[in-house]
Amino acid sequence: MKNNILLLPGDGVGPEIMDEAVKLLNYISEKKICDINYEQADIGGIAIDNHGNPYPNSTHEKAIKSSAILLGAVGTKKHESNQNNMKPESGLLSLRKKLDLYINLRPVFIFQSLVDSSSLKPDIISNIDLMIVRELVSDIYFGEPRGFDQDNDSAFNTMRYSASEVKRIAKFAFDLSMKRSKKITSVDKANVLETSQLWRRCVDEISEQYPETNIEHMYVDNAAMQLIKDPKNFDVILTGNIFGDILSDEASMLTGSIGMLPSASLSEKYSVYEPIHGSAPDIAGKNIVNPLAMILSLGMMFEHSFDNKELSDLIRVSINDVLDSGKLTKDLSGTKDFVTTSQMGDLVLDELKRNV
Ligand code: IPM
Ligand code: MN
Repeated sequence: MKNNILLLPGDGVGPEIMDEAVKLLNYISEKKICDINYEQADIGGIAIDNHGNPYPNSTHEKAIKSSAILLGAVGTKKHESNQNNMKPESGLLSLRKKLDLYINLRPVFIFQSLVDSSSLKPDIISNIDLMIVRELVSDIYFGEPRGFDQDNDSAFNTMRYSASEVKRIAKFAFDLSMKRSKKITSVDKANVLETSQLWRRCVDEISEQYPETNIEHMYVDNAAMQLIKDPKNFDVILTGNIFGDILSDEASMLTGSIGMLPSASLSEKYSVYEPIHGSAPDIAGKNIVNPLAMILSLGMMFEHSFDNKELSDLIRVSINDVLDSGKLTKDLSGTKDFVTTSQMGDLVLDELKRNV
């Protein structure tokens, strides 16, 4: 069966990193390594310009017909001060909500040759391998009521979780822990927030079905500190939407650069793969953005949507070989020489050709 991939390049550096992923896709398709075809649609700022809506119906129609979605990034300076529902980011949030992509996986691992690119000491981060499981379609991102008061002098958002929302993501994390080292750190702020007290209760309830998994609860402020102090103490981190957003940016720095962290957003039926970084308008169009988080996201697609872990591993090995040869993008190289976005894409493709 053909796998139909929907490409959503989005804004800023999105189209540049998408081009590099498409180089690999074309090769994989030509060589019939995996039976795929793809089409493209607009999301974010570009969709506001072309369709007057950050998540147009035409994009949604293609999304629900796809076998998987690959997304670049959303966010533009031009639409920054738009009303909430006309901001580029709201396009991404609509996509997540409408497809009920409640599982967000953000794997944090380090390529050995990058241990010196991180701002942390090599012995703290070498061999790091943890997984952030972030709930993606609830929490303060979506809670009602929200808005500005009439005088515009105060504003409010609602942090809200239902028990079923917590239990389904907890269940996913426990299942995952059984395939890893049977250890979960659930992150919340139960010393202050009712939503977190509910979160804890539900996680404990699910944990009873998994007697082999060691479950630890941690406050988010402490977790932020522990992640830097001793990241190897974590294996699966289970957390809500807003805490997961913040902790995953922090965790990305353990891997050398935010340009290295891929993600998968999953529901029972749909899947979206995207780098965790944003559209970076300040460096857009300069051919300097790191395309590896995007290429790693493509790798996650083969593993999770097309049941092809082998190809996903090959992509990872190819990236590893390129990095081992000392070729680094600007974000990773510091003051030294660096390769451009498109050169990095070509280098990974060359290695992939050698490795298949
Ligand atoms: C992310 C991003 C998004 C989020 C933004 C762009 C809405 O920061 O995927 O982490 O906050 O979830
Ligand atoms: Mn984020």
